[in-house]
Amino acid sequence: MKNETGKAGTILAIESSCDDTSCAVISDGKIRSNVVANQDVHQNFGGVVPELASRAHLSHIVPVVDEALKKATLKIEQIDAFAFTRGPGLLGSLIVGAQFAKGLALATGKPLIEVNHMEAHILAHFIDEPKPEFPFLNLTVSGGHTELVVMRGPLEQELIGQTLDDAAGEAFDKCGKMLGLPYPAGPAIDKLAKKGKPVFSFPESKVPELDFSFSGLKTAVLYFIRDRIKENPDFLEENKSDLTASIQYTIAKTLVKKTMLAADREGLDDIAISGGVSVNSQLREMMRSACEKSGRMLFLASPEYCTDNAAMIAMAAHYKFLKGDFADLNAAASPRLKRRSTAS
Ligand code: KG4
Ligand code: ZN
Repeated sequence: MKNETGKAGTILAIESSCDDTSCAVISDGKIRSNVVANQDVHQNFGGVVPELASRAHLSHIVPVVDEALKKATLKIEQIDAFAFTRGPGLLGSLIVGAQFAKGLALATGKPLIEVNHMEAHILAHFIDEPKPEFPFLNLTVSGGHTELVVMRGPLEQELIGQTLDDAAGEAFDKCGKMLGLPYPAGPAIDKLAKKGKPVFSFPESKVPELDFSFSGLKTAVLYFIRDRIKENPDFLEENKSDLTASIQYTIAKTLVKKTMLAADREGLDDIAISGGVSVNSQLREMMRSACEKSGRMLFLASPEYCTDNAAMIAMAAHYKFLKGDFADLNAAASPRLKRRSTAS
């Protein structure tokens, strides 16, 4: 449904693609509230259990939406449109947010806006100052994706590189699991690595050009730990900090190298990083230093807008609202939703 409005409104957005239930309210492009309920039911399973995630979304969604409205000091009648994450993500989780948003749109007679979660991660950079200027290069590193995207406009996003197997966040989480860390392991690795040194060298991926691969690192870490434990059963406990520092350094080095290669190739001077892994302190530091050395500007979003949140969905919905790009009530949740073509 297209109906160019050119006017900004007040939008309530819901994010439920994985294991965080979140609701945000945006007015004229400014975030008024952003509420996130995390799910700790997955911690002991080493990953997100889809069935448990959808159940937790069901119990969180009403209080989370209520709180977002309260914090925004608004009533449901004052909302101009309802947005939801259509994909990519877990089907059962996506359905909860999609159906809830549709119910609200139907009950109030207001339009519905569907948002692509990956496009939204990048638009988190438009919530606070300083905002990058178009065109710029964005590296998105999350639990499910690793993508290099040329941003030509808020909704004009060109994918130029991606992972061929595991995502960067998955590499953190799977390696962390081998070290006995709870899911998601990224934050714990970040913390432990500060006490260690990258003394163990793990292989960097050999994938050419702008694509990534992290499954080789996972296997290398697995065999390395197995062999060292044979020699010393306490190896893991005695070397946890150095192991985390080495794993983190290997991942960050690859991400920085490929980002710089992409920036050189595309001739872009502004670089942004988004997604949960972009909170990582070493990645931030190494990216900052590479940008400084090459005279580039680096844009980092506030951590609350890097990990999954509805504020980024609201920001993407804001741009769609301006264009009058509304969804049909039968727009179905789509676990493998692709990016739209760049022309929009
Ligand atoms: O963007 P996000 O919240 O959800 C997805 O869309 O996947 O990203 C979650 C990922 C997890 O893999 C988690 O381990 C990782 O982000 N992560 C981190 C850090 N904080 C979260 N990885 C490394 N260092 C961190 N500080
Ligand atoms: Zn995400």
